[in-house]
Amino acid sequence: MAGSTLEIKDLHVEIDGKEILKGVNLTVKGGEFHAIMGPNGTGKSTLASAIMGHPNYEVTKGSILMDGEDVLEMEVDERAKAGLFLGMQYPSEISGVTTSEFLRSAINAHREEGNEIPLMKFIKEMDRVMDFLDIDKNMAQRYLNEGFSGGEKKRNEILQLMLLKPKIGILDEIDSGLDIDALKIVSKGINELRSDDFGCLIITHYQRLLNYVTPDFVHVMMQGRIVKSGGAELVERLEAEGYEWIKEELGIEDETVGQDA
Ligand SMILES: Nc1ncnc2c1ncn2[C@@H]1O[C@H](COP(=O)(O)OP(=O)(O)O)[C@@H](O)[C@H]1O
Ligand SMILES: [Mg+2]
Repeated sequence: MAGSTLEIKDLHVEIDGKEILKGVNLTVKGGEFHAIMGPNGTGKSTLASAIMGHPNYEVTKGSILMDGEDVLEMEVDERAKAGLFLGMQYPSEISGVTTSEFLRSAINAHREEGNEIPLMKFIKEMDRVMDFLDIDKNMAQRYLNEGFSGGEKKRNEILQLMLLKPKIGILDEIDSGLDIDALKIVSKGINELRSDDFGCLIITHYQRLLNYVTPDFVHVMMQGRIVKSGGAELVERLEAEGYEWIKEELGIEDETVGQDA
């Protein structure tokens, strides 16, 4: 089967009774790289969290479908099994579980019982991807994210992405806090995944990652909605001129959402 389709329609999301997303429409298909850009506090991470089923985020209207299946009816692990992957803006530390153990159980969670990945095959595959991403092999035996630097956490996320091979990947600020070398490696990993079987939603505040990973579609989020969409040329314009021209064009004074005045 070719790639999957993630379809978000008129999505409204509340946190603590406050509406943050106010009607998001977006379709991501296998083979497509979409970027969501926008100033801070405009709802970008809320969208990622709602797609992955974070319990604090209540969908009050609209739908999320994965190949026609209702994602909102799925538990978090079922969403992963359906082929969704979320890289976190602030990945959590898991004490007592090594990176290697975590990765292997995550891979096996996607497989049927009795069809677990053989240990040697897993180690070989993990080693290969760690080499590709220039990750220190010691990381495999360290507790997940514990004491990892910002750059190590982000590389670790791409490691997960490359080993789990989801159908749709959602990367939230994967580029934040990376130096240029780490940014290039993270980009190399994302580009390596480009195929008809993989669609990607890249959420970022800055354009610099998008200088290395060229998006097919670029969307700007403000006030909890996608207010502008275009192609890669939109990244260049945002880099040169910032977000002000969009606010002026649309008559938006405060682009943020959900903040008490
Ligand atoms: N866990 C939370 N609890 C309360 N309010 C939140 C929470 N997460 C986000 N918000 C509200 O939603 C708004 C949008 O946040 P977010 O989606 O993180 O924006 P972005 O990722 O674009 O910076 C924030 O300004 C804040 O008011
Ligand atoms: Mg965010």
